[in-house]
Amino acid sequence: MVQIVCFIVTTGNTNINLLKFKDMNQESCKTTVTTSVFGSEEMLKSSPVDKIPQHPTMPEIAYRMVKDETIAQTQPRLNMATFVTTYMDHYATKLMNDAIALNYIDETEYPRVAVMCAKCINIIANLWNTPEQAKWKAGALGIGSSEACMLGGVAAWQRWKKRRMAAGKPYDKPNFVISSAYQVVWEKFAQLWQIEMRTVPLTTEKLTLCPKEAIAMCDENTICVVPIMGVTWTGLNDDVKALNDELDEFNKKTGYDIPIHVDAASGGFIMPFLYPDVEWDFRLKWVLSISTSGHKYGLVYPGLGWVVWKDKKFLPDSMSFSVNYLGADITQVGLNFSRPGAQILGQYYQFIRLGFEGYKAIQQNAMEIAKYLHGEIGTMKPFKNYSTDVTNPLFIWEMKKEHSKQCKWTLYDLQDKLKQNGWMVPAYTLPNKLEDTIVMRIVVRQGFSRDMADQLLGDIVNAVAELDKLQYPTTSRLSIESNVKIKGTVYTHTGK
Ligand SMILES: Cc1ncc(COP(=O)(O)O)c(C=O)c1O
Repeated sequence: MVQIVCFIVTTGNTNINLLKFKDMNQESCKTTVTTSVFGSEEMLKSSPVDKIPQHPTMPEIAYRMVKDETIAQTQPRLNMATFVTTYMDHYATKLMNDAIALNYIDETEYPRVAVMCAKCINIIANLWNTPEQAKWKAGALGIGSSEACMLGGVAAWQRWKKRRMAAGKPYDKPNFVISSAYQVVWEKFAQLWQIEMRTVPLTTEKLTLCPKEAIAMCDENTICVVPIMGVTWTGLNDDVKALNDELDEFNKKTGYDIPIHVDAASGGFIMPFLYPDVEWDFRLKWVLSISTSGHKYGLVYPGLGWVVWKDKKFLPDSMSFSVNYLGADITQVGLNFSRPGAQILGQYYQFIRLGFEGYKAIQQNAMEIAKYLHGEIGTMKPFKNYSTDVTNPLFIWEMKKEHSKQCKWTLYDLQDKLKQNGWMVPAYTLPNKLEDTIVMRIVVRQGFSRDMADQLLGDIVNAVAELDKLQYPTTSRLSIESNVKIKGTVYTHTGK
């Protein structure tokens, strides 16, 4: 057999690392390969924090250092806190990996990717029942729902501003209306563009946006109302149809033109497949734009968001920028310029691979598993579900008052116990007027099976049994008893 002897010399210090691949036929060759990675000087040093290292490092060593920094992290598929895709099949993963070097914005070099993006927008617009007749529907991709929400919001603001200017009216005090269970992107939108955010509080009786209260907050300066399909904090859906109908009355009465932008970050890819008859989308008169996350129930790895307008006329010209230095005149709508293109290939692959029925089957399974967990957790002695409805494949629950009175722990302790088994199940307090309510949330996604659900349930039962034995209060319990607010330690996606 061929003998390979390979010397690898690390420059920059006196240390010389040696990799030896010895002749397999040699008697002396009991160990065939000596790896130098863990024998290297670098393995005795901390990784760079402040300054770029002076000298290069062997790729094997650099790889190990970066890879191993993430080694103690949770398994992504045990992360029940995130909404974002943690599983794609082999072909999707290969397609996306192959396209890792591709910059979406360079449409002259990658014209087919631009076309593929437009095809995805068409497909999504049709899933949302667009009335637009034009061959290419008006939409844009974003790095996630945040960018997509921003684009929807900015378009509503620009349309409003143009109308106000044309009417010779002031346009310096725009506002928008949303429930207090908004995702943080809307706070960013308000801050960055200086648009007042008016929030309709949720209460124990009103678990979703109350259309009447929303309308009561509207005036001539309202650029749009934003209902949410798949509220981050609760998993519930705002009633877009009821809002649309109230708004229609209100707009008729006042002569205003207040539209709706639907933040369908999660629901946008659930509703068309599981509830095609529910009207929440472009079938409704005042819904002029909708945003969603391709990287949530669109089933693509991060980061990918989509925004679609009901018709090109609702996408203001002021938001399209034309650049020509890439070799052609290219019109783009978006906050970013360069952005990864691989996600578009991933999304288009999923559309082709799964088709309508495939998406439906995956969302249906996620929903069934979420309902199963909801049923099981809701009947555990210490807990009650926040809502009897599971409208998206996620739900929240809280501790019963009676149990809370006699036990020594909180849901934050359960969260920490579950973490020991690798599960990320966040505990957090609800927003605004419900901030005393501590809840836990499970988001079921593709990649989570009924068997895994049973394992999680088993771990919850065991953790509760141990926690119930506690004789003395935990730290979180003491904090709550002395009215000290606890800051959640597990990421919740709410941005809070
Ligand atoms: C309702 C809602 N809107 C917007 C966002 C922001 O989405 P992204 O993380 O895709 O930017 C989220 C994220 O969870 C969300 O739940």
